[in-house]
Amino acid sequence: MRLHRSACVALLYGICLTIAHGAAFARDRQECERLYQPAVGQEGKDVIWVPTDDDLVTRMLEMAQTTSSDLVIDLGAGDGKIPIAAAKQFGATAVGIEYNPDMVRLAQCYAEAEGVADKVRIIHGDIFEEDFSRATVLTLYLLPDLNIRLRPKILEMRPGTRVVSHSFLMGDWEPDDESRVNYGEAYLWIVPAKVQGQWVFTDADGRDAFTLELEQKYQKISGSVTMNGRRQPLTDAALRGEDIRLTFADAGGQLLTVQGKVNGEEMRLATGTREGSRRYVGKRSSS
Ligand SMILES: C[S@@+](CC[C@H](N)C(=O)[O-])C[C@H]1O[C@@H](n2cnc3c(N)ncnc32)[C@H](O)[C@@H]1O
Repeated sequence: MRLHRSACVALLYGICLTIAHGAAFARDRQECERLYQPAVGQEGKDVIWVPTDDDLVTRMLEMAQTTSSDLVIDLGAGDGKIPIAAAKQFGATAVGIEYNPDMVRLAQCYAEAEGVADKVRIIHGDIFEEDFSRATVLTLYLLPDLNIRLRPKILEMRPGTRVVSHSFLMGDWEPDDESRVNYGEAYLWIVPAKVQGQWVFTDADGRDAFTLELEQKYQKISGSVTMNGRRQPLTDAALRGEDIRLTFADAGGQLLTVQGKVNGEEMRLATGTREGSRRYVGKRSSS
């Protein structure tokens, strides 16, 4: 049942209070805290509850370049402050996954008190069981070994998904960015497209152009290009989500930079030379 404030005014104060306690809206954060008051450091299933500092929450969401088009999912949501900030400050849709049912109720109550219940959903569940693959921004404040356990699933997320972790790293997957606020640290990773393997490129007229061999470890790539039978190492290579940029010597020995996007088994690249852009389409021939 949903009660509106105006309806309450019409009721006797005592009756209103009794009904409102069981009703689906919360009036303010104090009321939420009367229902449940957590203690910093209390046990959680895999990690205790310690909330992220407000300024760091904002910085984490800024690092992820969060917008109203994003679905932000916080793994181990605690009192829901990250999903609530994502909705309130950035207009995003947000989900929190939290194992402690009291924290779930508190976080949902706070979302209502902050006026973002339409954008925030707190799910009672285990981060190792729930499906979070739809997130475009994933936030974590867990522990290093938990991050590493989650890493295989994170690497299967859509290329370009932004992952921000408070305090803890992801093992040998180096962050793309890091930031420090009020003695707290946050790390950002962009889920890289899978580009390992051999790619055969044709030009705009469908003629064979070059073959690209790529080695990949997370977002770090290296390899070579074979053009007119000559194999040249990549002198520079960068991968950020599905965006790729490669530099190599062309058949005449001139350095050529091509950039573009990876979409599954297809890679589209273009040069940005003064004479006009040349376009190439690559298909993966082996991985
Ligand atoms: C360090 S707190 C972080 C809270 C919030 N994300 C923040 O940054 O303010 C970790 C939270 O994860 C929850 N948690 C621990 N293990 C969990 C699991 N397996 N599934 C879901 N939540 C879990 C704890 O109850 C706690 O609220």
